[in-house]
Amino acid sequence: MNGCAHENAASAPVALSERIHWVGAFDPQLRTFDIILKTANGTTYNAYAVRGSAGVAIVDTVKEEFAGDFFTRLEQIAEYHEITAIVLNHLEPDHTGALPELMRRAPQARLYVSFMAQVMIKALLKQDALEYIAVNTGDSVSLGDRTLSFLHTPYLHWPDTQCTYVKEERALLSGDVFGCHFCDTRLFNDRVGDFRFSFEYYYAHIMRPFRKQVIDALQLIEKLDLSIIAPAHGPILRDQPQNYVARYRELASPRLKRDVSADEKTLLIFYISAYGNTARMAEAIYEAAHQVNGVRASLYDLAGGETNSFADMLEEADGLVLGSPTINGDAVKPVWDLLSSLAVINVTGKLGAAFGSFGWSGEAVRLIEDRLRGLKLRVPMQGLRVKLIPTLEEIEACREFGRSLGEELMSNRPARILDFTEELKSSYST
Ligand code: FEO
Repeated sequence: MNGCAHENAASAPVALSERIHWVGAFDPQLRTFDIILKTANGTTYNAYAVRGSAGVAIVDTVKEEFAGDFFTRLEQIAEYHEITAIVLNHLEPDHTGALPELMRRAPQARLYVSFMAQVMIKALLKQDALEYIAVNTGDSVSLGDRTLSFLHTPYLHWPDTQCTYVKEERALLSGDVFGCHFCDTRLFNDRVGDFRFSFEYYYAHIMRPFRKQVIDALQLIEKLDLSIIAPAHGPILRDQPQNYVARYRELASPRLKRDVSADEKTLLIFYISAYGNTARMAEAIYEAAHQVNGVRASLYDLAGGETNSFADMLEEADGLVLGSPTINGDAVKPVWDLLSSLAVINVTGKLGAAFGSFGWSGEAVRLIEDRLRGLKLRVPMQGLRVKLIPTLEEIEACREFGRSLGEELMSNRPARILDFTEELKSSYST
């Protein structure tokens, strides 16, 4: 037993409609994807063939080691000379592994990629002379009586990602969006086993860090007339596909309504303390920050909370302040646990700061600051360190630190967001 429900594991294509076939592959043995994602029953690499009166389009391929399954399925529904278009919704190797061989077998086919894919595609294929057509939202390709339209959905899950809509079939070939790692050869959501956990888990790890981009994509997708969503992984959503769109909308929306007004800013202060010294610093910082007009500060002892709940709060907060003692030249584990949990949310541009009491060397504050910068928070103030028990003067310095943080938070300085594709986007638009 390999964990993937096998009803018809033979390499046959699967019809989504008369004109669209699944020609992907099953990978029931996979347990870890992209190093960080677990899957209890493997995954599927979904590729599709769309037939029009004037040609066949292939949308995505499969991981290289499954290319044999892909070509076996494809050859049962199309001949290579019929292929006029190859569309890549996403360049990650699990979807482009069979591309070089497909291009060799169908050399007449034109290659369509998102305009944001240009920065990567030549490096991926190692072909300097590669010819392709870059497309954006609003562009389309005719297959005669079927049309492929493109929706640019960057960062879901790479900067290059797009969805392809076949309007005559009311079908969205959605790439990683609405996908999940779940292997079941019955393929359709009304026939497979319970994949709710996989769907939520995939969203939490792949899409959640890009909440703004999810909302942007939903604004495009929610306008579509949909009878089926065919993602690049996991079940094909033909039963009530709108429910999955609605679920993305829920997941991308704030989980709890914050009872703060639009002109207030929230500052979350977390600390952990061995002998009460870092705790005293935290209380002084909190009291002063909270007195700054417009700042809604909160104080939490990391010894008494679950990291996941804190990450949910941080997703909505405007600033994060972390206090840790230095033990063996490092910040303590609960602090690193909280920082590592931030990998699945977007904290870019939030205000960050660190503080802590120390005995000998006091590395913790600098190490936390480095990590906050690595997560793209802005860290405008040097962290505050106190040797052992804070004196009255040092407690006053903590208050000053808290006041300054509060004022910085209310200064509305713009977040500095790094985006390596900016240059490409501007060159495309000129
Ligand atoms: Fe399924 Fe982001 O690759």
